[in-house]
This record gives sequence, structure tokens and C-alpha cells, in this order.
Amino acid sequence: MPLCPMRQIVDEARAAGYGVGAYNVNNMEQIQAIMQAARETASPLIIQASRGALQYTNFTYLKHLMMAAVEDNPGLPIALHLDHGPNLDLCKKAIELGFTSVMIDGSIDYDETTESGKHPARSFEDNIRVTKEVVDYAHERGVSVEGELGTLGGIEEDTATDKVLLTDPDEVEAFCQKTGVDALALAIGTSHGAYKFKTKPVLALDLISECRQRVPEVALVMHGSSSVPKDLVDEVNKYGGRMPGAMGVPIASIQEAITRGIQKINVDTDGRLVVTGAVRKVFAEKPEVFDPRKYLGPAREALATLIASKMKDFGTAGHAGDYEPKSLEEMKDFYAAPPA
Ligand code: G3H
Ligand code: 13P
Ligand code: ZN
Repeated sequence: MPLCPMRQIVDEARAAGYGVGAYNVNNMEQIQAIMQAARETASPLIIQASRGALQYTNFTYLKHLMMAAVEDNPGLPIALHLDHGPNLDLCKKAIELGFTSVMIDGSIDYDETTESGKHPARSFEDNIRVTKEVVDYAHERGVSVEGELGTLGGIEEDTATDKVLLTDPDEVEAFCQKTGVDALALAIGTSHGAYKFKTKPVLALDLISECRQRVPEVALVMHGSSSVPKDLVDEVNKYGGRMPGAMGVPIASIQEAITRGIQKINVDTDGRLVVTGAVRKVFAEKPEVFDPRKYLGPAREALATLIASKMKDFGTAGHAGDYEPKSLEEMKDFYAAPPA
């Protein structure tokens, strides 16, 4: 069975009211663990690779590892997605590799760097321009596209919300209509990594409901959705790590976000944490071990357990058999003449 279009996976999730995790990968063990979790829970899934992951795996390795995952798991709808695509060139490269979905992160300009070393934000018009270019290219090939409005970053605790960072619901309809994106990443106060909040989680969940009303047909995406569970951080710290004050998005908030209209939930950090904890444990308890299988194996098991629990928490479990994956040829026809 070939890879599934992301658009189909999120459309099915929206119709049935559940969320689908999009899990970042960089190596074989992560892919195997996520596939194991999806098999055990009968879940459709989105596997995603960042620009860094593509570079780390020298592009070709990631492609062939994913082909192995598909061959090894007939019957599971699996989308392969480019996470935070910086420009049209990398989106084209991912599509060439066989990705069924790309994100063009047009909210910031990755090709420019300011004096502070950060990438500047793009204007609304410029975001529409770069996103539309990618949509035109991708849809001609049946490939799904995710865009982003607003920039990720924390809401500073209880102080005034930094409105410029959050998605402006008034822009959502025009953005989706002018670009034709299949999915839209919202900035609601989450951020990437293990330190999302200083004292307690603060999220603008009501923004999701507002955006859902404006664009009922577009999948909504929540980035920075790792929960950074205390037990995983404690495990890392117990075996020599140092991650004081790490904090993530509680599962209950993600579940509320799904109820309000989120379909795609991006998770990377939690996977990194669980792998690091498991490897550190082996190193601390068995200093004589030097066979990588002896620490990568337990790390893979721990990651599979973690992802399976997310698949249950997000409501994805049990939905793998609900539909037959569409081909990119079918998606090409769909985009050429979308149903009225
Ligand atoms: O977007 C952030 C993801 O966690 C990917 O991270 O760029 O370090 O691979 P990365
Ligand atoms: P986390 O850092 O919360 O796992 O978010 C990952 C993400 O948003 C990838 O795009
Ligand atoms: Zn992200």
C-alpha cells in the first residue's frame, strides 16, 4: 500500500471528531517505534521530517526507511509530511522523495536572518504569496499542503497576550481562500521544545473555536504539542540529565483543542525525552554495555509505549480501518475539480 495523502487522514479525523498525531522522526528506531504503536492501536498516522531530519538522514535514507515502514505495515494509513518547510525548493525536494504532504512555513522568512540571528516574520501578503506557490506546485501532484498563520511562542504567563504572535482569526478565512491550503497551523501560545511555560500552561484555546467557525473545511494544526510529562523529565534527571523547569501542554488541553477543532497534533519533544531517559537509564545501570542495540532497543520500546498512549488519548486508536487510502492520482483529480 502506498503512503496516504495527509488531506485524507485529517478529513477523516475532522468528520469523526478525533485528532491525529504527527510524529517527528530522524532514524530507524523512531520510525519502528511509531509504527509499532500504530499497529498495536490500529491508528492512522502522520510521520513528519523537518529540514534538519532530512539533512541528518541524507534524504535518501529517510525515504527508504519510510518505504520499509509502509511495506511492513499494510493496512495502516500513513502520511509522510515535511515539517516546517522553509521554502518552495525544499518542498519540491520532499515531493520528489515521495512525501504525500508538505508544510510551507510562510509565517517567517527562513532565507533571511536579522542582526539578532533570528528569522524575520513575513507579512500577511508575503505569507500568502509563498504559500500559494507551494500549493499550486503540490496540488498539481496530488500532495497536501499545511500553511501557518501567526508565529509560535509562549504567551507570557498571565500578562497581556502578545497578540502579534497569535493567529488573528480575522485573517484565517482570506488566507485559506487565497492559498487553498489543506491544513492550517495556528499559533495559540504553544512553542517548540521542553520549556513551553514558566509557571503554568496558558493557551488561547478559544482561538481554535473561532478559527474552526471561519474555515469549517480546513484541517487545523497544533504545533508544540508535547506534554513534557513529569515522569519522563524525572527519569532523564534521575540518570544524570539536567532539565529543570521543563513544562509542556497537558493532555487535557490537547483533548479540549481536539474538541474545539484541531485535527493534526505535532509531537517531537516527548519522543526525544523518552528516548533520552531510556538510554541514560541503561548507561547508568549497566556501564558495561557497549552494544547500541542494548540501549537503542529499550529506547525504541519506551517510545512505542509513549506513542501508543498518545494515539489513545488523541482518539486516533481504532480508526485505521475506517477507509482505503487514496492515491496521489486521485488527489490530483480532486484538486483539479474539488467537489462543490
Ligand atoms: O519543528 C520542530 C521540530 O521539533 C523539529 O525539530 O528542526 O530539531 O528537527 P528539528
Ligand atoms: P514539540 O516540541 O512540542 O514536540 O512540538 C513539535 C512540533 O511542533 C513539530 O513541528
Ligand atoms: Zn512545529
